[in-house]
Amino acid sequence: MSKLPYIGKDRNGIPALIVDGKPYLMLGGEIHNSSSSSLSYMEEKVWMEIRGLHVNTLIVPVTWETVEPEEDRWDFSLVDGIIDQARREQVRLVLLWFGLWKNGESMYVPFWVKSDTVRFARACYPGGIPSNTITPLCEEAVRRDQEAFQQFMAFLKEKDEGIYTVLMVQVENEIGFLNSDRDYSALAGDCYCQKVPEELIREICPGSDGRMEKMTWEGLFGEDAAEMFMAWNYARAVERIASAGKQVYPLPMYVNAWLNQFPDRAGNYPSGGPVARNHKVWKAAARSIDLFAPDIYLSDFDGVCKEYTQGGASLLIPEARRDAVTASNVFYAFAAYHALGFSPFGIEDFGTEKEEEAQTVRKQQDLLNDLQIDELAFVHFGTGKYLSRSYELLDQMKELYFRYRGTPAVQGFIQKNEHDRGTILRLTGCEVELTYQKHPLSEPGCAGMVIEDSDCSFWIVGCQTGIRLLPRRGTGAQLTLLRMEEGEFEDGIWHPGRILNGDELYHALLGDYPEIRRFYYNISETVK
Ligand code: DGJ
Repeated sequence: MSKLPYIGKDRNGIPALIVDGKPYLMLGGEIHNSSSSSLSYMEEKVWMEIRGLHVNTLIVPVTWETVEPEEDRWDFSLVDGIIDQARREQVRLVLLWFGLWKNGESMYVPFWVKSDTVRFARACYPGGIPSNTITPLCEEAVRRDQEAFQQFMAFLKEKDEGIYTVLMVQVENEIGFLNSDRDYSALAGDCYCQKVPEELIREICPGSDGRMEKMTWEGLFGEDAAEMFMAWNYARAVERIASAGKQVYPLPMYVNAWLNQFPDRAGNYPSGGPVARNHKVWKAAARSIDLFAPDIYLSDFDGVCKEYTQGGASLLIPEARRDAVTASNVFYAFAAYHALGFSPFGIEDFGTEKEEEAQTVRKQQDLLNDLQIDELAFVHFGTGKYLSRSYELLDQMKELYFRYRGTPAVQGFIQKNEHDRGTILRLTGCEVELTYQKHPLSEPGCAGMVIEDSDCSFWIVGCQTGIRLLPRRGTGAQLTLLRMEEGEFEDGIWHPGRILNGDELYHALLGDYPEIRRFYYNISETVK
């Protein structure tokens, strides 16, 4: 029997998701919110559509309303069926527990919870106006979610232990309170007036010797008090739910964040969610959570990855934007941040596009030059063909990647903004000048990965980038490019295709469609 998936270390000591005893490269896709509520829909509109995309992990919601339609009556037939379908398709699963909270609201709780606003108290906006969100301070609601989650994890253990089709579980979805910086219910008001719990103070102000024991939320956190109060209460609720689940079946668990963005005020995004500025509080309260994961729809992909890996944290991207740039961002996430996984949202759409339709939409997209680039995150037309090639290449080269992952032999590059013209990467024996190519918005961006396997050879995989080899600066050495190859990996072994010379060599270029090249070069000292 193989071992439970866990977050361990790869051969280079870099955190990795370990599946069947080996580091796992999660080439994921998250399905739409409602798709998993029908097994026949899954058959026809999901599994059929994602074949050929090289997705090895499907991210799928499991909702409280379907597993406990009446109080204490359990029905896991949907999850059961989806696991069977995944096994037949040889695809792994990450399951999303849509319990008390989904995008800041309580829309996936069962009917009997939704209709009882006394037993399951709602968070309020200023002035005591009730919202649709159940407050994390409602003891009874958290207790019932905890119980349902535990039943769900017990079902998974019984169904999947030893096979491990299910690799991880996300607890709730994009938690936090929307449209207000905090819960203004009477219940929350009372707690907010009390002192900050000592256990939180000890975590965030180590060495305070209890001097801050009597601190209020506003005294300690100033203008961030409302958000930190919500973060603490959501994280504590999540901890109760997740730890109860882990007690019966300890799969890795994570929470995902709706990211803070302009205008950056808590409530414009769900207040108290696991955005980077709240991690300290979340870590203090939710120790059973293995990862805090960003849903990256913003254009500053590198900035978000950087924020989420501070202090050596591991990166998982459970939701990524749907436009073509996702097909190039994926290389950078694995190269520069050793991501555990990458997953664009709405993956079942990516396979359905008809090329003709896609071309029309792409043309429209390109005409809209003044369109805010973040709006493109919702346009998936044309992404499928690019993403499927990125995933195919990454899957082919995963052995090579894991050999060097997290060492200087693996480097990433990405165009940070429209004024960024390129970069020079320093390898052992040479420098690689990478020039970002102008391209329509409907195509992947300029990004990729370099893997160096010896002093005189390396691979580049990615998109939209011109390549030139230079001798190392200041060495006075002379560089001779010996050969550039295209090719494919099969069972971890490189099989060269054409040798790209002459005209093809003058324009050493990765185009819009993700490509891989191998370079060989020679260095000789110049005679003085
Ligand atoms: C983020 C949420 O987490 C998803 O469930 C989904 O609603 C997407 N947004 C839609 O873009």
